[in-house]
Amino acid sequence: MENKDLICENLSIDDNGVLNFAGVSTVELATKYGTPLFLMDEERIRYKCKTYLSAVKKYFGESSGVLYASKALSFKRIYEIMKEEGMGIDVVSQGEIFTAKRAGFPLKNAYFHSNNKTDEDIDYAIKNGVGTFVVDNEEELVVIDKIARQNGVKQKVLLRLTPGIDPHTYDAINTGKVDSKFGSAIETGQAEEITRLAVSLKGVDLKGFHCHVGSQVFDSDVYIMASTVMLNFIKDMKVKLGFITEVLDLGGGYGVRYIESQPNMDIESNIRLVSEHIKNTVKALEIEMPSIFFEPGRSIVADSGITLYTVGTVKRIKGYKNYVSVDGGMTDNPRFALYKADYTLLPAYDMNASREMTASIVGRCCESGDIIQENVKMPETIKRGDVIACLTTGAYNYSMSSNYNRIARPAVVMINDKKDYVAVKRESLEDIVNLDV
Ligand code: LLP
Repeated sequence: MENKDLICENLSIDDNGVLNFAGVSTVELATKYGTPLFLMDEERIRYKCKTYLSAVKKYFGESSGVLYASKALSFKRIYEIMKEEGMGIDVVSQGEIFTAKRAGFPLKNAYFHSNNKTDEDIDYAIKNGVGTFVVDNEEELVVIDKIARQNGVKQKVLLRLTPGIDPHTYDAINTGKVDSKFGSAIETGQAEEITRLAVSLKGVDLKGFHCHVGSQVFDSDVYIMASTVMLNFIKDMKVKLGFITEVLDLGGGYGVRYIESQPNMDIESNIRLVSEHIKNTVKALEIEMPSIFFEPGRSIVADSGITLYTVGTVKRIKGYKNYVSVDGGMTDNPRFALYKADYTLLPAYDMNASREMTASIVGRCCESGDIIQENVKMPETIKRGDVIACLTTGAYNYSMSSNYNRIARPAVVMINDKKDYVAVKRESLEDIVNLDV
């Protein structure tokens, strides 16, 4: 019978009842490297890249592609893997560009996002040869044009548009609605205005359009709705301006399994569904078929990662509730504090123990909101020193971590072919004071 705890195929239980990840004992890794500890499954990251790339090439052709949204998890090793897998990348800051460059990632395959690129960011990205800018608004377009001309470059750009679709996910993560801080809205006529401006400027080379409708999306309806709106806009621009769109980038957003009740998405069949819809619409509208890009972040890395913690204080407030405190918290995973996000937590040290205690798993920060998850089932005997695991932490955990309370960030250890190696070192106390003068 299927074990409900094992929500991803890289999880298993060994003969000692210990949770294994990517074929390696979590308790042994916790002993070897200390906790809190991020573990990443390199083979799964590569498998996800291959799944996306082969589906996109199969259904949309060789000129289409996949950009890894590196905000989900960004450090040098990730960009090396993306380079080896033939992925493009989405970057949103000088820091991400610099990291990718240090990793030897070819920046011509980088797409520079962000709703507020400073003049300095723009100059930095152009000087470093970032291939494509995804332009948020008119003000930014004018600055990119100016700085590109100053650098003697005709900068390739896409325009980020808001198709006005609410993907019914968490409000704080919605980015495709008309009133979003991102992009130029089609509904208000601003998308047309920015397109007219872009085709008139000498320093930019308009390749097409971009939209991103949301995150943690479990079916293709939003992509189908968004692509309908975008393709109609593309038709409109062809009729009004004679502009032929070469690239349509549909953003990221496919969901992953944080808890057992969520589905395991079939990326290939979803991309096929979207492709059928796009091909039919392109035909009906009598427009040229653009190259199609997807920008997955979460669905590439989330279930390729878990976090290990060591239990500290176990507090039972009689008649009220139980707390299991761990040696990390909102500093390595702020997602419950920010979004009330779901997570699965498991007693990695003894997966066969019966779990009769209901507890809140909380961190060590001086903040009552420092919670990893509430109402978690743990063994009644759980105690100081036991190792527990939080699943599906590969995306938006390390990349959103902080030094609140001057807590050092955990190490990131990669596992490939059952061999473990350090991809990011654990921060030391010296690192904590490193910038203090
Ligand atoms: N492309 C653009 C332009 C985006 O803004 C995003 C995510 C992505 C791609 C990747 O989306 P994904 O495939 O990862 O869903 N911190 C939040 C998520 C914020 C997502 C922001 N944009 C969280 O922890 O859930």
